[in-house]
Amino acid sequence: MNSIYDAIIVGGGVIGGSIAFQLAKRGKKVLLLEKDRLASKASGAAAGMLGAQAELDADNPLFTLASRSRGMFPALSKELKDISGIDIELVNKGMFKVALTDDQVAELKKMIKVQQDAGLEAEWLSTAEIRKTEPLLSDEIKGGMFIPGDGQVSATRLSLAFTKSAAALGVDIKEFVHVFDLRTENGYVKGVSTNIGEFSSENVIVASGAWSAFLLEKSGINLDTYPIKGECFSVLTDRPLLEKTIFSHGCYLVPKVGGRIIVGATVKANTFDQKVSMEGISTLIEKATQLLPAIKETEWEKTWAGIRPQTGDGLPYFGEHPAYKGLFIATGHFRNGILLSPITGVLIADIVEGKTNPEWSAFRLERSIQTQFS
Ligand code: FAD
Ligand code: GLY
Repeated sequence: MNSIYDAIIVGGGVIGGSIAFQLAKRGKKVLLLEKDRLASKASGAAAGMLGAQAELDADNPLFTLASRSRGMFPALSKELKDISGIDIELVNKGMFKVALTDDQVAELKKMIKVQQDAGLEAEWLSTAEIRKTEPLLSDEIKGGMFIPGDGQVSATRLSLAFTKSAAALGVDIKEFVHVFDLRTENGYVKGVSTNIGEFSSENVIVASGAWSAFLLEKSGINLDTYPIKGECFSVLTDRPLLEKTIFSHGCYLVPKVGGRIIVGATVKANTFDQKVSMEGISTLIEKATQLLPAIKETEWEKTWAGIRPQTGDGLPYFGEHPAYKGLFIATGHFRNGILLSPITGVLIADIVEGKTNPEWSAFRLERSIQTQFS
C-alpha cells in the first residue's frame, strides 16, 4: 500500500482535525491517521471553555493568538454546521472569574485593569451583582470579573465537526492506525510507517498532542514537551443551577446543554496515566461545593481524565523542522487547545504552503531545537 498525499497529519484530536479541514479547503489531498478513535484523548476530555481572558495573562504571547482564535468561533460554528451537520454548541454568554480570598480579589482587579487598557471588555462585579445572574453561588464568593467575550463549546463535537467536515471535503481519515515512524531521506520527509503499511507524502504534520515527542524521538528529534493530566466529573440537573461558566482557582463549573455541568480540572504533571483518582475527584467536589452549594442536589454522571500537551516554556510549537524539510509540528496547546484550534489550523496550513507570519514568531520550533542544531 503506498498512496501519495499532499500532506499526512498524525493525530485525530482537535488540532489535527482543524489542520485537515483548513488544508482540504485549500484543495490539498490529505490523509489523517489516528491510532485510536477520533477525539478520544485530550480533545474529548476538555471542558470546552474559550477562556482567552479568563485563562491567559495579557502579557503572554498566547493572549493575542487566543483572542484572535476566540473571534473565529461564530463564523466557524456556522461553517462546520453547514458542512458536517454537527452543532458545536457554541455559547457566548460570557464567564465569571470569581475570587474567594482577598488576594484573589486584588489579582482579579489588576487583571481587569490590564485587559481594559488593552481595549478588552472586562469588569469587576460585587457578589450581589453576580448573584443577580447566578443566585445559587455561595456567599463565600468575594465578587469577581465578568468577561463577556469568553464563551464555550462542546469540545468533542468541535473535534468531530472538524474531522467530519474535512472528510466531506475529501480528506482520507483512518482510525486505529498507529504511526510508528517518520520516513526521511537526506533531510527530506517522505512519509510515515504505520501498523497497516507505509504512506507517502512530502509533508507530514505531527499533531499528536502529548504523544508528539515519542514519534519525533525515533527520528532523533527532541521536542521539549511533557504531559499534564487533568481529571473532571459531570453531574446532571433538571433545575438549571448556573447561567454562565464559573471559573475559580483550581476549579471551574461549565453548564452544558441537557442540564449537564462539567466540573474540572486537576493538574498533575509528568504522567500519561489516564486513571481517575479518588483524591482528584474529591478535591474537585470540595471546591465545586464551596462555589455552588446546590451542586450537592444533582445526579452524578461520570468522571474522566485527559492528558494535556505542555511545553518547556509554556508556548505551543508551530513550524517546519529545520533539519527535515516537509516535517511540520503543531503541538503544546496545554490548557487551551480547544480555544486555539481554529487559528492553529489556519496558521499551520499557511506554513505548509510556505507562508510564515512573523507575528507568531514566539511559537517557532527553532526555540526548542537551536541547541541541537546550532
Ligand atoms: P489530543 O486531543 O490528545 O490528540 C492527539 C491525537 O494524536 C490523539 O488522539 C492520539 O491518539 C493521536 N496520536 C498520538 N500519537 C499517535 C501516533 N503515533 N499515530 C497516530 N495517532 C497518534 N482546552 C480549551 O481550550 N478549553 C478547555 O476548557 C479545556 N479543558 C480541558 C480539560 C481537561 C481535563 C483537559 C485534559 C484538557 C483541556 N483543554 C482545554 C486542553 C485541550 O484539551 C488540549 O489542549 C487539546 O485537546 C490538544 O489537542 P491535540 O489535538 O493536540 O491533542
Ligand atoms: N482549560 C481548562 C483545563 O485545561 O483544565
